[in-house]
Amino acid sequence: MAVEQSTAAAFIPPGAGLDELREAAAGCTACDLHLLGTQTVFGQGARESRVLMVGEQPGDQEDREGQPFVGPAGKLLDRALVEAGIDRTKVYVTNAVKHFKWTGKGQRRIHATPNAREIRACRPWLDNEIEVVKPEVLVALGATAAKTLLGADFRVTLHRGELLDSPLAPYTMATVHPSSILRARSEDEREQQMERFVADLSRVAEVSEQVGR
Ligand code: URA
Repeated sequence: MAVEQSTAAAFIPPGAGLDELREAAAGCTACDLHLLGTQTVFGQGARESRVLMVGEQPGDQEDREGQPFVGPAGKLLDRALVEAGIDRTKVYVTNAVKHFKWTGKGQRRIHATPNAREIRACRPWLDNEIEVVKPEVLVALGATAAKTLLGADFRVTLHRGELLDSPLAPYTMATVHPSSILRARSEDEREQQMERFVADLSRVAEVSEQVGR
């Protein structure tokens, strides 16, 4: 007998706005990650945001605080946004997967990459966030978000920083995940990677200002 794959679709109240979505997502059990994470980490930002950024999944600190991008990768993202001239309060930030997936190493909780089934189960939350916010520019941060939004064959290494056509928003761009910059092997490398990241985000700033709301 075929096993029906559950997704978050059944948890989504019809006609929900961001507050209702966030409230409903708190009780989501569409995949087993709710057993692992402390809480659902839903997206954050104003409904009027012109830019919507999608990461992979909450990290250790996000899981504890219940907010996306508040840990080390989030702090780097904040710095890059400032350098690119983007007001963080005008950006909606969220993740492809809303629970923290981790494996234990001693006392530490180490990030584990969500699998295709977990990403698929969580997808209705992301689709609804995009539908409510209607961003001018949708930005995928890293490979997981890029594949989620642009298809499994999409390669950030080949197409980073390009403004792409997608049915999801007037402009869609994929760039690196800020945590990849934190992992740079030297200070020089980190600086170079940060420069390229800021250049990508500056392009986002430009096009989001071009499109009137
Ligand atoms: N990495 C992500 O992809 N998302 C977060 O919210 C934090 C770290």
